[in-house]
Amino acid sequence: MADVTITVSANGSLKVEGDIDLVDAEGNALPTREGKPIYLCRCGQSENKPFCDGRHKLADWDPTLGS
Ligand code: FES
Repeated sequence: MADVTITVSANGSLKVEGDIDLVDAEGNALPTREGKPIYLCRCGQSENKPFCDGRHKLADWDPTLGS
């Protein structure tokens, strides 16, 4: 099994579990919580990107995955 698991939530974020380094476009470290999952926004509506802040629940977007 992989050291990191990324789960695409049916209606929202990407849940990332495992030991990762999360950095911005310039390589600056972004906060993670050791031993706890992080949730990355995939709807584009979060005001705390790259993290999900729950706004996907109010956004008009299609969370279904393409095939
Ligand atoms: S996926 Fe939750 S705010 Fe975008």
